[in-house]
Amino acid sequence: MIEIRNVRKVYPQMKRPAVSELFLEVGKGEICVFVGPSGCGKTTTLKMINRIIEPTSGDIFVNGSNVMEQDPDELRKHIGYVIQKTGLFPHYTVYENIAVVPRLLNWPEEKIAERVDELLQLVDLDPEENRNKYPKNLSGGQSQRVGVARAMAVDPPVMLMDEPFGAVDPITRTQLQNEFLRLQKKVQKTICFVTHDIDEAIKMGDRIAIMYDGQLVQYDTPENILFAPANEFVEQFVGSDRSLKVLNLLRVTNVLSRKIKRASRTTGLEELKAFFSTPEKNRILIEDEQGEIIGYVAKEDILTASSSSGWNRLIKIFPTHLKESATLKEAMSDMLQHNIGALPVMDRNDRYQGLVSFNDIRAYIGEAYEEYEQRDDENEVV
Ligand SMILES: Nc1ncnc2c1ncn2[C@@H]1O[C@H](COP(=O)(O)OP(=O)(O)O)[C@@H](O)[C@H]1O
Ligand SMILES: [Mg+2]
Repeated sequence: MIEIRNVRKVYPQMKRPAVSELFLEVGKGEICVFVGPSGCGKTTTLKMINRIIEPTSGDIFVNGSNVMEQDPDELRKHIGYVIQKTGLFPHYTVYENIAVVPRLLNWPEEKIAERVDELLQLVDLDPEENRNKYPKNLSGGQSQRVGVARAMAVDPPVMLMDEPFGAVDPITRTQLQNEFLRLQKKVQKTICFVTHDIDEAIKMGDRIAIMYDGQLVQYDTPENILFAPANEFVEQFVGSDRSLKVLNLLRVTNVLSRKIKRASRTTGLEELKAFFSTPEKNRILIEDEQGEIIGYVAKEDILTASSSSGWNRLIKIFPTHLKESATLKEAMSDMLQHNIGALPVMDRNDRYQGLVSFNDIRAYIGEAYEEYEQRDDENEVV
């Protein structure tokens, strides 16, 4: 969808090129995140795609056509653009801000009004309440949402976003990121997204382009960046806590164990004891008559229990549960907080989906690192 071929940008005042020898492709419906320290050429790269900045040499194709062969104004109408300070026109209302490009394209006002309301809903703003506000009466988060709505006004297939959530507080930022990811699932735009924050890159990117001094250092999936950084710079940039970042990337569905044995609360004690005679079994889930999980019993409790009728008292209730969308980091955090080695995962309708345990997480991450190391060794032999 976007193809950058050997692009170079030299500013007259600069000794080294701001961007050089950049080759990169972004597939349809993908989010490519450009990340790197300040001054590494992220914004320059982004602005060359919609020709706010002209490349010194090289070619850029969007949807198969060379941008250099198109009228820049025309080009920009069909590429959504969102920047950090939103770039909303202060003397325009929310409505008028979103309507800018549709008006340039001579849409009938009726269609624009419909589209504005649709977009405001899409970005979680009540149209009634917000369409006639001026930017100065919006919070930072609301302004960013309007910025995103405006960029999507004419439904462009490609969006460029330059630190779009950089100017808001961390909580709003997380909210905007999550909302945007949810939105992207629906709209499937092809997106180039700039940030200087590696955590944001890992969270938002299908692919991450790490830049340094105008050069592309690694272009890869978040997994590969974390498990197999291309060089020392990437390793440092990712940070010494990269295993924790891996936890943030993976979801409980990656390690969900559906095989944990279940027993009814009407089961006899002897039967439970027999189950625990296998050494690796430490707990068994207990379900009620409807098959809903109510808790679990631990091996040591059952093996020392004597009265066959009273064992139901030993059922431990899970202190909390995890959503299917939870990351492994959230899972670990909940387990630590509640001092428990495993938690159930429930779907949206509160139906039990499986169990996630500390040990399974550890094993999963360990294996993943081993796999990457092996791959590395094989590459070196070749
Ligand atoms: N208009 C300009 N004139 C001269 N140098 C510029 C201009 N814009 C950016 N630069 C320089 O180009 C380099 C890359 O800038 P930029 O793409 O804005 O970096 P980033 O977005 O990664 O922080 C920096 O060294 C910056 O100072
Ligand atoms: Mg920048």
